[in-house]
Amino acid sequence: MILIRARLLTFRRDPLAPDDTDSFRYFEDGGLLIEDGTIRAIDDFSALHAPGATVIDHRPHLVLPGFIDTHLHFPQTQVIASWATELLDWLNDYTFPEEARYTDPALCATMARAFLDRLTEQGTTTAVAYASVHATSAEALFAEAIARNMRLITGKVMMDRNAPDALCDTAQSAYDDSKALIARWHGKGRLGYAITPRFAITSTPAQMEAAQALAREHPDCHIQTHLSENHAEIALSCQLYPKAVDYTDIYARYGLLRENSLLGHAIHLSDREVGALAEAGAKPVFCPTSNLYLGSGLFDDARLRGAGLTNAIATDIGGGTSYSMLQTLAEGYKVLQLQRQRLHPFRAFHWITRGNAVALGLEDRIGTLEAGTEADLVVLDARATPAMALRMDRARGLMDELFTLQVMGDDRAVVQTYVAGVARKG
Ligand code: GUN
Ligand code: ZN
Repeated sequence: MILIRARLLTFRRDPLAPDDTDSFRYFEDGGLLIEDGTIRAIDDFSALHAPGATVIDHRPHLVLPGFIDTHLHFPQTQVIASWATELLDWLNDYTFPEEARYTDPALCATMARAFLDRLTEQGTTTAVAYASVHATSAEALFAEAIARNMRLITGKVMMDRNAPDALCDTAQSAYDDSKALIARWHGKGRLGYAITPRFAITSTPAQMEAAQALAREHPDCHIQTHLSENHAEIALSCQLYPKAVDYTDIYARYGLLRENSLLGHAIHLSDREVGALAEAGAKPVFCPTSNLYLGSGLFDDARLRGAGLTNAIATDIGGGTSYSMLQTLAEGYKVLQLQRQRLHPFRAFHWITRGNAVALGLEDRIGTLEAGTEADLVVLDARATPAMALRMDRARGLMDELFTLQVMGDDRAVVQTYVAGVARKG
């Protein structure tokens, strides 16, 4: 049993405004009692009596629930910072050739360690990742995550056209491989499977039917794909599926829109599409560093939320440029500023913790510091660099501290990351 002593911050709900103090709980001198990977109690340190517990003193740092990254690509670990014009060129010139390497189990095992280490050093404790088309890549990632007792959702990408032969499966093999991976890994430890048709361009109608069958047979598996990231992508998708009224309708026709569907990007949508997504309860995923990097467009958070949607936020490595959810918030803030939408720091930190947990339907297990939830934590230091320390000398309170972390923070601000109660950084 361990007892962590620190300043603690956890959210009850999405903060409506910076002064919505009921939306979170903050303990200036807090205690977090952890046993068997689970949070047993949260309170003022002085109110907790735990004889025999080992006290770990993280004062004066700030402890939050571990960050949740809802969209990134495992086989793109070495694609980050590839110089490309836009999405489709980037996929063809850099991403597809790189993903073809993930047929090798030894490479997959090495990269799975590197990939999860990168997440841990950034304070990310749950990830929803695309593997490559090869079952070996999903196997390696699941195996490495379970060895660390880390919560991870992944799935082998389904893609059977418009890609190099080495990256193409078939409708049947995609179904069979996904089915076998679900049987082997879904629900084991802290693992979950996501049915993963890459996007409409790389799946034939026959493969979309296979994805539909998997989705029907496994209602508790997540579904992940990409939607309306870029104009050329939208035009080609609609050309390939002429009967669909728009891009969103392609996925709707194959039963792929539901509450546990995660739709990467969702930038260029008509009102009809927004309505269809809201009706299905599907979850758009904002990927700010990627959207800026590939020049894809500006995610309209206020519009989608106004329509009743719950938006997730993610890095989208390797279209995204940083594993850091703090840097993701920094760029997200700027994307929203360009649209005169102001992301205040309480809402930002809710988003990468409880907010993303809600989007995944996992808020009873992760994303807060409530008793009974899994002990995934991040320990943050807003004075981690000289520049941050100078800014913090003039901070007026918790909100300024959070905003300093949001705008200037990265892995240097992450003092420690606990995964199921075990310190895993460094
Ligand atoms: N659309 C289809 N595949 C991908 C991918 O790997 N990255 C991004 N950003 N968009 C995609
Ligand atoms: Zn993506």
